[in-house]
Amino acid sequence: MLTDEETFKKDVLSRIPLRSEPPLHPNWLHLEMIERFRVLRFAPIKPGMNVLEIGCGAHALTTVPLAYLVGETGRVVAVDLSRWRFFEEITSAAGLKRRIIPLKADARELPFPFKAFDLAVLVHGVRSLKNEKTMVRVFSEMLRVAEKVSIAESPPHSQQRASGTP
Ligand SMILES: C[S@@+](CC[C@H](N)C(=O)[O-])C[C@H]1O[C@@H](n2cnc3c(N)ncnc32)[C@H](O)[C@@H]1O
Repeated sequence: MLTDEETFKKDVLSRIPLRSEPPLHPNWLHLEMIERFRVLRFAPIKPGMNVLEIGCGAHALTTVPLAYLVGETGRVVAVDLSRWRFFEEITSAAGLKRRIIPLKADARELPFPFKAFDLAVLVHGVRSLKNEKTMVRVFSEMLRVAEKVSIAESPPHSQQRASGTP
């Protein structure tokens, strides 16, 4: 008598061909952070700045180079709605945790009543904003709470574009 899991494997999984997609490069986390570091060179970041980061994500890919670039006296308030899984582990390992204040919040309604930041940044996160209305709300909030705003986004992968464009 087969168990449910064995039946699932036999009747369902056995129909799906195995895929041999290349695994992630072992160095992918560093490579992604280097890419963010290069992107951030286009933002007007100076040591000592108080920076707001929108949509920091679970791996702190932008947060780490940002915290490095603001220097010992700078601060990064890193906002995300929900994705924090590796954030503390990575920012601690980077030796930059003291410069970073994680904040679980919805960027459509930031909890700052006035311009509290020198700069607000959003790197490769526009793609995660739900729709155009959300984008406009988030950009407006960034402009409301920061003196300057820097937004960077890369085009979707060819596969995403192919499936998303009629
Ligand atoms: C693509 S991910 C991480 C991007 C990251 N900055 C990077 O450099 O790769 C974008 C993040 O935006 C967050 N996000 C989406 N909508 C949001 C919102 N309304 N407020 C705050 N964070 C949001 C998601 O939870 C996700 O972690």
